[in-house]
Amino acid sequence: MTTFEVRTFGCQMNKHDSERVAGLLRTQGFLPAEEGTDADVIVFLTCCVRENADERLQGQVASLKALKAVAPDTLIAVGGCIGQRDGEILLRQLPHVDVVFGTHNLGRLPELLIRARTSDVPVVEVLDSGTDFTSDLPGEREHPWHAWVPITVGCDNFCTYCIVPYVRGRERSREMDDIVAQCRDLVADGVREITLLGQNVNSYGRDLYGEPRFAETLRAVAATGIDRIRFATSHPKDLSNETIAAMAELPSVCAALHLPVQSGSNRILEAMNRRYTAEEYLALVKRLYAAIPGLALSTDIIVGFPGETEEDFEATMHVVRESRYAQAFTFIYSPREGTPAALMDNPVPREVTQKRFDRLVKAVNEGAREYNKPLVGTVQKVLVEGTSKRDVRVLAGRTQGNKVVHAPAPNGVDISQLAGKFADIRIEESQTWFLVGTVEGYEPT
Ligand code: SAH
Ligand code: SF4
Ligand code: F3S
Repeated sequence: MTTFEVRTFGCQMNKHDSERVAGLLRTQGFLPAEEGTDADVIVFLTCCVRENADERLQGQVASLKALKAVAPDTLIAVGGCIGQRDGEILLRQLPHVDVVFGTHNLGRLPELLIRARTSDVPVVEVLDSGTDFTSDLPGEREHPWHAWVPITVGCDNFCTYCIVPYVRGRERSREMDDIVAQCRDLVADGVREITLLGQNVNSYGRDLYGEPRFAETLRAVAATGIDRIRFATSHPKDLSNETIAAMAELPSVCAALHLPVQSGSNRILEAMNRRYTAEEYLALVKRLYAAIPGLALSTDIIVGFPGETEEDFEATMHVVRESRYAQAFTFIYSPREGTPAALMDNPVPREVTQKRFDRLVKAVNEGAREYNKPLVGTVQKVLVEGTSKRDVRVLAGRTQGNKVVHAPAPNGVDISQLAGKFADIRIEESQTWFLVGTVEGYEPT
């Protein structure tokens, strides 16, 4: 019996891929290692979008040297975006890695592991492009009620700071019929919430059908009877009126939208190759709020892009205040070798970036509190996920706006029975990162 463990970094695409790795290995007779025990096979699905993600892998793999000393048969496999980027070169820094694979050949992992077992040298296989969607491989969902469904892979946008197009390849859409058929199967299998995935879901279908067909896809997925639909990510330049209308009309599509702005300065947006202006972005935000009441808008922002001045940063702060984000992910610019921005002049000094970053985080937190406040007193439909991290007697779930809600378990109810069910929760208190309430009703367990 061989046991395995998958360690995942990075975005939702990697989370989805890690479910495929677990499913694949299980069909090959591998078993998940029990918690607290050392697995025979350790698979890393890696991320290199920023330097700190890169460093995390180095640290984790380096620390496995000790395990290899006592259990030399342990196999270490590194895949995902670092595997794709580095291939063979990875072995120079991490010679005790046994298998390197990329983002296009996930399905080959079991075979590569078998080869590595009998090979004296590490096995490296990285392909330039792929033809299969990982969703077509057997999968093992982390939560039975939630599924990731990729609709596109790769990216054609080439934002100048971003490594993703280089490690995930050109954008490819999946046939709409395949997507809908998979969603139908998931509903039959008890899934309540589906997250449609793509680096830019709004351009879905352009390569296959000559024009984007995302709005239509939303409608087709909604028609499967799934309770909740989320999707990520939306590039502002491609968010169509049809998509906004579909979001507004379809009750199963959550009133939540991740719309990365990256910067509020037109000069920086141009240097980033984002292809919209701050004015266009804010006009879009206005249309969204008008069409979708209670919309939870979220974003990504980069601070300290080369040449960013105080004025540029102030423009970003302006967009943050105007957009009233329910949530924002803030990043310090990290030069990625091979991207155009890595060659740009005028790096912003670290201390300046840090100060701006701190100011931005404060504004973002303020925005999150503002979004949460009016929810107090309302009853929210919450999809229960399990117990809160701090207290096993408290349940945790999410509103359709993707806000975490904590509530004491109803008397005599086992929270594990409620996981994957919808509960009506009256919100009584709002914090920056979560809401607290009381359960008023729930689906039969
Ligand atoms: N396709 C998505 C997400 C890509 S990566 C999109 O277009 O929004 C997630 C986020 O990481 C990006 O939105 C960006 O804010 C951030 N990011 C990407 N490259 C970065 C870099 N080199 N330095 C800092 N942040 C970066
Ligand atoms: Fe990267 Fe831009 Fe593509 Fe997003 S849209 S993955 S930020 S290149
Ligand atoms: Fe990271 Fe690759 Fe996703 S670089 S953000 S895991 S596409």
